[in-house]
Amino acid sequence: MAYELPDLPYAKGALAPHISEETLNFHHGKHHNTYVVNLNNLLDGDSSKSLEDLMKETAGDAAKAGIFNNAAQIWNHTFYWHSMKPGGGGKPHGKVAELIDRDLGGYDEFVKAFKGAGGSQFGSGWAWLVYKDGKLSITKTPNAETPLTEEGATPILTMDVWEHAYYLDYQNSRPNYMGAFLDNLVNWDFANQN
Ligand code: FE2
Repeated sequence: MAYELPDLPYAKGALAPHISEETLNFHHGKHHNTYVVNLNNLLDGDSSKSLEDLMKETAGDAAKAGIFNNAAQIWNHTFYWHSMKPGGGGKPHGKVAELIDRDLGGYDEFVKAFKGAGGSQFGSGWAWLVYKDGKLSITKTPNAETPLTEEGATPILTMDVWEHAYYLDYQNSRPNYMGAFLDNLVNWDFANQN
């Protein structure tokens, strides 16, 4: 049994106009799928380990960078699809709202810091809301890196800031994409589950 590309949790056109069907066709159907194909090739189709175990085992090992990068990109993308939903975005509710107020100084400060993380990630990477050491924090990671492999960190939400996430819809404007993500797409139910 090989690793498989997970389905999107919504229809390909469901995030439009904020993220178009065309973007999801490429981003899920081509980019995400390529990581799955690459990982299966690297492991000769052996998927006996969970992605999470594989990532934890290979993180920081230069000799296994290919396996780590592809496994982590599969995991990060699946987490990203669930971090959005049609009709999402705006202010959070529930536990995550309480913790954003308690740990990050409220929603407006969260928006500033999250956009700051995504905007200052030079080149490709990810912005994250994580829970670590008993509190929420905002981080960014380059390329395929992910807080999942960081001791004691629990990812709560992520935003892909690779150009392939936004170029067809926003061209070079990462800030406009980040604004649409926060205002119209964030899935706070998923954040609360995490
Ligand atoms: Fe991506």
